Amino acid sequence: MNQHARLQDRAIPFIDVAAQRRRLGRAIDDAVARVLAHCQFIHGPEVRALEAELAAFCGAKHAIACSSGTDALRLVLMAWGIGPGDAVICPAFTFCATAEVVVLAGAVPIMADVDARTFNIDPASCERAVVTAKRLGLTPRVVIPVDLFGLPADHQAIAAIARANGMRVLDDAAQAFGASCNAGKLGAVADATATSFFPAKPLGCYGDGGAIFTDNDALAARLKSLRVHGEGADKYDAAHIGLTARLDTIQAAILLEKLKIFPEEIDARNRVAERYSAGLAGVAAVPRVGSDATSVWAQYTIRLAPGRRDALAAALKARGIPTAIYYVKPLHRQSAYARFPLADGGLPVAEQLASGVISLPMHAYLDEPLQDRIIAAVRDALAA
Ligand SMILES: Cc1ncc(COP(=O)(O)O)c(C=O)c1O
Repeated sequence: MNQHARLQDRAIPFIDVAAQRRRLGRAIDDAVARVLAHCQFIHGPEVRALEAELAAFCGAKHAIACSSGTDALRLVLMAWGIGPGDAVICPAFTFCATAEVVVLAGAVPIMADVDARTFNIDPASCERAVVTAKRLGLTPRVVIPVDLFGLPADHQAIAAIARANGMRVLDDAAQAFGASCNAGKLGAVADATATSFFPAKPLGCYGDGGAIFTDNDALAARLKSLRVHGEGADKYDAAHIGLTARLDTIQAAILLEKLKIFPEEIDARNRVAERYSAGLAGVAAVPRVGSDATSVWAQYTIRLAPGRRDALAAALKARGIPTAIYYVKPLHRQSAYARFPLADGGLPVAEQLASGVISLPMHAYLDEPLQDRIIAAVRDALAA
């Protein structure tokens, strides 16, 4: 078999968790073994060490590790006392967890439209959502921008709208820990920031995990209580109604090892994205990253003209190249969320993106020959 044939035969994973596992093998095994030796499986020393390193990494005063990205969002809404009669504004083009936590809190999610080039919440639609909330007799209390696919939202514009309307900003950075914008690194930008360590995320653990970031001492203290059943100074006198929402010590130990190579991995992801964009710019709408932002490329997502997506996905699949569609249905088209209000002006961009986006394989271990194979396959399919 010649070299060319071997390259063509290599299966391409959409996200290669195993490649990183191979690179870190012994370090992770040793880290897990240390936890198995000391047996502090809940809130062991690795959790505190991870919180200190995560906070230092992004420049936030506090990092509070927890059980998932969803719980990270939920805990913040609980800590802020969000509930019935409140409105929380979020983009419609996101993973359902962004709005799920709002409904679980008893508040009403108001879906805002997004920007076609960045996929992130459109500040103008966010302002219209405030008007919508008030017209419905709700109090707009929080806006949850999402840093979709790893790219920071327009945090300056969102913060200004929040300030003008007495709202807080809860950044859903589930896909974007490690990214930065002109206001700073995510984690140090919003009133509170939630991230996810789900294995496929840019910084993922080997199960579920998440973290919350804030500079606010009182909020940090409340979050630490809420993640352990709302415990007070006396462990058996609960001060608040809370959750079981801790990060396991084993997951913290794994994340400490992964954090060591995370900056290198972010650079590698950016190199993949740059090569993709250079190779595809003429044939598809490639993602736009402003000069004042960096993305961690949780996904590399292109936009196609209507009706072209299925044929491209099929052509790539035939050549062993997996694709994914985030998101086939924006929130307001999903059964559980169709009953919630939309921002005045509707969601034309979210609708249009849902029918035109497609994501290509993206991870830090995608080498140049594989990148070239993917670029060539996309170009061939779109030229056909
Ligand atoms: C935008 C967004 N928010 C929240 C979450 C929830 O994170 P987790 O799966 O860790 O609960 C995800 C996970 O995919 C996400 O993509």
